[in-house]
Amino acid sequence: MKVFCYSLKPFERPGIIQANHGKHELIFSEQSLALASANLAEGCEAVSIFTNDDASGEVLKALHRLGVGYVATRSAGYNHIDLAMARRLNMRVANVPAYSPHAVAEHGVAMLMALNRRIVEGQALMHMQDFRLDMLTGFNIYGKTVGIIGTGQIGIAFAKIMHGFGARLLGSDPQPNPEADKIGLNYVPLEDLLRQSDIISIHCPLNEHTKYLLDEPQFAIMKQGVYLVNTARGGIVRTAALIRHLASGKVGGACLDVYERENGLFFSDHRHSILQDEEFIRLRSFKNVLVTGHQGFLTVEALRNIADTTIANLDAWEQHGHSPNDLQD
Ligand code: NAI
Repeated sequence: MKVFCYSLKPFERPGIIQANHGKHELIFSEQSLALASANLAEGCEAVSIFTNDDASGEVLKALHRLGVGYVATRSAGYNHIDLAMARRLNMRVANVPAYSPHAVAEHGVAMLMALNRRIVEGQALMHMQDFRLDMLTGFNIYGKTVGIIGTGQIGIAFAKIMHGFGARLLGSDPQPNPEADKIGLNYVPLEDLLRQSDIISIHCPLNEHTKYLLDEPQFAIMKQGVYLVNTARGGIVRTAALIRHLASGKVGGACLDVYERENGLFFSDHRHSILQDEEFIRLRSFKNVLVTGHQGFLTVEALRNIADTTIANLDAWEQHGHSPNDLQD
């Protein structure tokens, strides 16, 4: 299959080349998919994309007109793809459903610990040879109540680590995970979770039901000093509301691997540009906010699984016209 690979970063290349074994004709580009760049896929049967590519209805139509029949996203999330339009156009879309839930869960924990225990500030002071401990006081996770919104693969992996720390676990999910019982995770309505949790970690997908799931009324009922961890999708939290509650001191800390308007921002070099997103600039200005640029997935194990599954999706399409990871809207 001839495949145009959009947004393919240098760190992904070796794994993809190795997984492919020369089977498919892959064209690598760091260019992201958008209406203006769809024509790059001319002559290809498939495209491979990533989370911040735009696979909305109009873009899919443009790809379809060029003869593209398959869209393989190298991600678990697929909120960037208009699945209803793909179905109408008879295009197949597949994802990588579980490349490494542990990679994302562990990153969330790393962020939580780094912010809470002031690791970043401590290092900066260490390099300045300021060995005072003022301002570096954190809190124990042991004994805290951790609320997990979305207890699928990543959420339950995060919950297990928190269980190991000795936290009390609450969960909110329309589809309870059978593993929750083993670690004493109790399902409660979202409102109760928000009211009771010292730490809230988001692990549900972004869709029409979860857009701004955490907005002004939800922040209003949270505990004073609550910590928020979001490694899922930025759009699940209304950034303006988060900023207001950080400014008031209600939110004690926020660990964000994703951001509402990260498209066009994350994954590329903006060192020489003047950032225009005032909310992003404000968010970064808080000392109790830790932002990483959507790197939760970035482990060697996850990259290997992403590459292997993406190539397996292409193999399946070439051989059978469908893949076990095909998505339905
Ligand atoms: P999953 O499908 O295994 O789990 C998602 C869970 O969310 C399911 O149990 C589902 O029932 C639940 N859910 C759906 N609607 C909900 C709602 N309104 N309230 C509470 N729970 C709800 O997905 P997985 O693999 O755990 O991934 C979760 C999300 O993490 C992905 O959708 C993606 O957006 C994000 N992600 C982020 C990465 C990163 O690098 N930061 C990498 C991979 C995924």
